[in-house]
Amino acid sequence: DSAEKGGFDHFTIKEIHEQPKALRDTMTSRIVAGQKVKLDDITITKEMLESYSRIYIVACGTAYNAGVVGKTAIESLAKIPVEVDVASEFRYRDPIIDSRTLLIVISQSGETADTLAVLRDSKKKGARVIAITNVVGSSVAREATDVFYTWAGPEIGVASTKAYLTMLIAVYTIALHFAELLGTMTDEETDVIKKEMLLLPDKVSKVIEQKENIQKFALKIHGEKDVFFIGRGLDYAVAIEAALKLKELTYIHADAYPGGELKHGPIALIEKNTSVLASLTQRSLMDKMHSNLKEVTSRGAKVMVVTYESNKTVDSFVDTAVHIPETIDLLAPVLAVVPMQLLSYYVCSFKGLDVDKPRNLAKSVTVE
Ligand code: G6P
Repeated sequence: DSAEKGGFDHFTIKEIHEQPKALRDTMTSRIVAGQKVKLDDITITKEMLESYSRIYIVACGTAYNAGVVGKTAIESLAKIPVEVDVASEFRYRDPIIDSRTLLIVISQSGETADTLAVLRDSKKKGARVIAITNVVGSSVAREATDVFYTWAGPEIGVASTKAYLTMLIAVYTIALHFAELLGTMTDEETDVIKKEMLLLPDKVSKVIEQKENIQKFALKIHGEKDVFFIGRGLDYAVAIEAALKLKELTYIHADAYPGGELKHGPIALIEKNTSVLASLTQRSLMDKMHSNLKEVTSRGAKVMVVTYESNKTVDSFVDTAVHIPETIDLLAPVLAVVPMQLLSYYVCSFKGLDVDKPRNLAKSVTVE
């Protein structure tokens, strides 16, 4: 058992440490600086792409949270409108699907019942389906028209970590590929993103090196009943995944809010010592988030912020600042989510809970 865990106490922490390798494996042969994206198993042409009136990204749980990043990536790089939805909602809301629909399903296991049902229903109605999955030969991989394997390697921990990070790479890669097909970006522009993507594995390693700092904050909040996560733009996508991780691993009630929504309700719950965690990486929203943070610190909240190395402004008014290496904002969720994963892991260990198999949860939900 200990050998299987590679010297780590649990699969979850082993898998968090495997993320740099998983990211490299996902990008190998697909993302090369100075070259077009190569996706052998996606055969969509420029003409087909131009014929789609909309793209839906549909998934469950952590895969849905990756889809939220995917929406921004595809819209901002390829300029195609994208709607993202959870599979159990999508399948019962009579969405508009026909031959002009492109559906992207995301599923680590490739076996989630609701996601699979959406794939089947949509194909019947004429949609083309791309599957992003980690499991070779899984049901979604077999039934989709096009496949993107994430190559994260087997994920044993029920709470997804490395699979999520590789799903982000998948959506960025597909967005770049679409941008190249449609000509919405110059080669120079796509190359900047590719070069930054290739630096992510080493940067994730640097983030993991900060685990002691994160562990100290985990000790401070492990007795809490409620924790709030905030972020704006792509940082809101980080916040929803961070809150899900905390719920799954620690059974602490966690909620994620867009920073700008605080004043529309959640602020009423912030009092002395309430825990608030913020992701702060989107440069155009930095000042706005600083104001949002001050709204909670002025009420006495305990705050941990994940932000770039260059942003020292926050250090003076938050409890803990975890500084991550600089990258382009689009890619920042890959780095910003890692401290959140570690935090949930440490809180879980301080509480003495079953890290790899949280109560009531299954790795793959194959029944409705
Ligand atoms: C379960 C797992 C989650 C996962 C979700 C979707 O709820 O516990 O970790 O995100 O299913 O799974 P999938 O295999 O479709 O990505």
